[in-house]
Amino acid sequence: MHVSKRFLAHCSLPDGVFPTSAHPFEGRALRAAVIGTGAISRSHLTALTELAADNEVELVAAVDVDEAAVAAFCAVAVAEAAATTHPAPRPYTDLDLMLAEERPDLVTVCTPPTLHRAQSVAALRAGAWVWCEKPPCPSLADFDAVEAAEGTDGGPFASVVFQHRFGSGTRHVRRLLAERALGRPLVAHCQTTWYRDTAYYAVPWRGRWDTEGGGPAMGHGIHQMDLLLDLLGPWTEVRAMAGRLVHDVQTEDVSTALVRFDSGAMATVVNSVLSPDEVSRIRVDCERATVELTHLYGHRNDDWRVTPAPGVPEAQVAEWRDFGPDVPSSHTAQLRELVASMRAGVRPRSSGADGRTSLELITALYKSAFTGGTVRAGEIGPGDPYYTVLHGGAPGWAPPDSTRKTGDTGKTGDTGNTGGTDNADDTEVAA
Ligand SMILES: NC(=O)c1ccc[n+]([C@@H]2O[C@H](COP(=O)([O-])OP(=O)(O)OC[C@H]3O[C@@H](n4cnc5c(N)ncnc54)[C@H](O)[C@@H]3O)[C@@H](O)[C@H]2O)c1
Repeated sequence: MHVSKRFLAHCSLPDGVFPTSAHPFEGRALRAAVIGTGAISRSHLTALTELAADNEVELVAAVDVDEAAVAAFCAVAVAEAAATTHPAPRPYTDLDLMLAEERPDLVTVCTPPTLHRAQSVAALRAGAWVWCEKPPCPSLADFDAVEAAEGTDGGPFASVVFQHRFGSGTRHVRRLLAERALGRPLVAHCQTTWYRDTAYYAVPWRGRWDTEGGGPAMGHGIHQMDLLLDLLGPWTEVRAMAGRLVHDVQTEDVSTALVRFDSGAMATVVNSVLSPDEVSRIRVDCERATVELTHLYGHRNDDWRVTPAPGVPEAQVAEWRDFGPDVPSSHTAQLRELVASMRAGVRPRSSGADGRTSLELITALYKSAFTGGTVRAGEIGPGDPYYTVLHGGAPGWAPPDSTRKTGDTGKTGDTGNTGGTDNADDTEVAA
């Protein structure tokens, strides 16, 4: 089979796992399709184009209910793919038709969150692996329905776009923390303090539970919380507060939380759209060093800082500060790993339980904030009002007409809204 050296250099499969010669993708580029051709789809196109140049994928189709949008996307795809020999992707306005005609191996979902469940399930049932934008789904119930539609042995699996987990900086720090090279992690801070003005919230679908899914905890802070969990491992309990301090919204515009981890470490989490001095930050104080990431919408090696505790030898510090060749966090970095997992027939990172962790923490954050209690990991399941909707029906937070249905409509074109989401707020391309 063809797997380029450049491609393998970027892959990080679990130890001892190699692409098998018996896999159905052997010897050919993976057939990929994009659903939803709005703002974030351009980051998917960049990633797909880079892998197409290595003959790892071929973009065969794109789908959008907006005919002009999908036509424009396909035109850009053709222009960007000039270096490859692949034919132009075909535009569709009907997802089911695309799945039937194109039989893609991989579908990337770039539509608003309310569509993620039905479209991911449709793609899995058609045999395609799924790479779905954050937030993965509006609720844990929706996430579990997607997971239930996955294949059992060798895929197809559905993974979530959490590009901040990928790249050389995160990989280096994750290894240092996992190996306890810096000693035990003790105290952490996780901060998404951004600024969104009144005009931003004048757009009708913003600030609403049914169309946006949640406030800044869900829509903006999810990347940093997901990265915190990726670095520190399982959490055990959360206590939180949420407020509407400025904007006329159904959801919160700020939240704070205290999180305890399995390891014993404790973290503060702040998610705000009220902060004129915008920053995304993660800081972990360990016994032997503090490691800190400061950026806004994406990071590279220079955005990480390691500060040793007194007495740590210089040579040791130099090793900790050696992040290796710079691979910025990006959709491309995550897609390379995903494609490697597909070729190996193994569950990719950021899927299944690993892809669910930040959604569970956010759900628990809302439950704690709205009930005033401590919420423990694993306690929100079927029967819990927060399992199906993040406001949990809480007085003062749930909209007056909140009788949200949670069943799978099975309708992949059921827009629920007209496609508007956070199109310029949390990606490095929009920074
Ligand atoms: N990973 C990141 O950093 C990042 C950044 C921005 C947005 N996002 C996420 O990406 C997703 C999309 O956001 P966006 O900003 O690109 O939104 P957008 O509004 O710019 O684009 C959404 C597209 O989906 C299309 N659409 C709507 N209903 C459809 C249907 N039934 N079938 C097919 N297409 C349909 C719309 O016509 C539109 O073109 C959201 O979940 C958002 O949170 C992620």
